[in-house]
Formats: sequence, structure tokens, C-alpha cells
Amino acid sequence: MSRYWSSIVHDLTPYVPGEQPKLPNLVKLNTNENPYGPSPKALEALRGEVGDSLRLYPDPNSDRLKEAIAAFYGVKPAQVFVGNGSDEVLAHAFLALLKHDEPVLFPDITYSFYPVYCGLYGIAHRQLPLTESFEIRVDDYFRPNGGIIFPNPNAPTGCPLALAEIERLLQANTGSVVVVDEAYVDFGAESAVGLVDRYPNLLVIHTLSKSRSLAGLRVGYAIGHPDLIEALGRVKDSFNSYPLDRFAIAGAAAAIEDRAYFEETCARVVATRTRMVTDLEALGFEVLPSAANFVFARHGQHDGAELAARLRERSIIVRHFKNPSRIAPFLRITVGTDGQCEALVGALKEILV
Ligand SMILES: Cc1ncc(COP(=O)(O)O)c(C=O)c1O
Repeated sequence: MSRYWSSIVHDLTPYVPGEQPKLPNLVKLNTNENPYGPSPKALEALRGEVGDSLRLYPDPNSDRLKEAIAAFYGVKPAQVFVGNGSDEVLAHAFLALLKHDEPVLFPDITYSFYPVYCGLYGIAHRQLPLTESFEIRVDDYFRPNGGIIFPNPNAPTGCPLALAEIERLLQANTGSVVVVDEAYVDFGAESAVGLVDRYPNLLVIHTLSKSRSLAGLRVGYAIGHPDLIEALGRVKDSFNSYPLDRFAIAGAAAAIEDRAYFEETCARVVATRTRMVTDLEALGFEVLPSAANFVFARHGQHDGAELAARLRERSIIVRHFKNPSRIAPFLRITVGTDGQCEALVGALKEILV
């Protein structure tokens, strides 16, 4: 602690991202990156940006990208907001739409950045327990609130929530904004984007880090009513007018436009997930139903921390969460290539003998 720190900084509990170890020959299954590269068309678009135009600021509104996203989903560009990773979009949503007198509600087991944003912006919040089977019970959210946010599928469980349940939640909460963080939706859950025209209180947030294989480019977006989008824009233009650089705008637009590559790589991840779940179950793991590019699994006889440590000795990195204690027995394992998942299963076989 430094005497020069503001009291806000002093009281922060920052988010701890999954590690990015710089070791050779690592099987890296800890941060839900896509094992396949970005669309070749995105890479070509990135190369096309190298040149004299880098002297100039990028388009502060990222219109080219907003148009690509709007065309992909059949919405209007005025219903689209883009940011530097969905983390930035989420941060702006907390400040612009979820900071009210009543607490914002989210699950007790969820993306651990949500309480961090509440801490940063001084937002009252309440965490509602998932059920015994790690599901979101929508009826728990029928209470006064300053907003609701959850990932679908949830993180780190991977469990999806049915669209009909989300609609019930929206109908019961017309007085506040419901944010659905669809970071992993493309791997098997139902998107709520089709509901934005009917529910002006719905904001759906996506990232290009997972299903578009562009975690390194840092691009995320939100889709919702133009009033919600305007609120996000007001925060953005009070913070950083150019959150997306020229590479991000061009590469992300090309990735969104390459629907065939996106669909093919998502299908490959889903096929590998199915095989990995079967293999893990054969080893005695209980695997929660996953609609994401990761699985959440526990072994009756072995502690999660111990298994993560022993995998690490074999250069295989998975994610383990100590808190809350209810999820301490679990490992969160990213779906890699078939080869990576076979390496994981092989190592677990050795560890479990
Ligand atoms: C549920 C959820 N939302 C948002 C993000 C942030 O993604 P990004 O900032 O890379 O777009 C993550 C990243 O792991 C996540 O798990």
C-alpha cells in the first residue's frame, strides 16, 4: 500500500485472470481460449491494416464493425455497442445501467469479475445461491433490484438457462435492466438476442474471445435497445473515445463476416467436448451439463486443488477455484483440440491409479 493511493484503490479487490504461463509444450486448458486459430479472413484483414493509416486515430464509433454485427444478427447498428473486450462492455454496463439504490442481483457462483466491478463503482449487490444442482432459479430474482446480470451459459459451471426462463425473468423485471452475458453461448446455449426488440430492458453481451478465437484482439459487444446502447456510449465517451484500434475494428468485422469458419470451429469444439465428457465420466468424474467451451467436473475421491497441481506437474494447466467452498472440489477444463483433451485424459488416468 502506498500513501499516494486513493481510498478507492486501497479498498479494491481486483480480479485475478487465469495465468498465461510462458512455458514450452504446455497443454493450456485454463482460460477458455479457442484451440483453433482465428478466421483466415480476419488475419488477412489485420495484415491489411499495417500501413500509413496507423498514423490516424481509428473511427471512434467503430461503424464498420457495428454494421457487421448488426447484419449478422439482423438488428440495427443503433442497437450495437462495441468495446475493448466484453470485460470493458460489462464494466460500462455496470456503471451505466446497474448502479441504482436497490442492489444488482447475480448468482453466488458466477463470473468473478461482477463483484469486482461492483467494488470499483460502489454498486450495491446481492449474490443469490445457485440450486443444489448448480442451476439459476429464476424465481429467486423476483424481488426488488437495481438490475440483474448472469452469464448464459453460466461460468464457471457451463450450465445453460433456457430461453423461456430468461423471458420469464424479463417479464417479472420490467423496471430494471437484465444483462445476459453470452460469452459462451455459441457453443450450445440459446441466445437471447432475438428478444431485444420485445424487451427494452434486455442487454445481451458477447465476446470475440471464445467462439471467434480472438482473445488477443480484445473485442466484445452488446446488443439491446438504442436507449441502453446510448447509455453505454455516454460512459465510453467519458472514459476512452477510441477503445478499439484499427486492427480490432478490421479484424473483428472480418471474423464476424466469416460465418462458415465460425460455425465449423464451434462444431469441432462441441464434438470434442462430447468425447471429453464421456472420457471424464469413465474416469469417475461427475461433469455438469455444459453448453460452453469448457466443462466443470469433480471427482468423488480427489480434491480439485490436488488434481490441478498434479496435472500441472505434467504440463497440463486447468483452472481451480478455491471459493466459494462449494466449488472447491471442481476443475474447470477448457475444451482444447482432440489431441489436447486426450493428453488431459491420459494424465488423469495416471494420476487416478
Ligand atoms: C462469463 C464471461 N464474461 C466475459 C468474459 C470476458 O471476456 P473478454 O473480456 O475476453 O471479452 C469472460 C472471460 O473469460 C467470461 O468468462
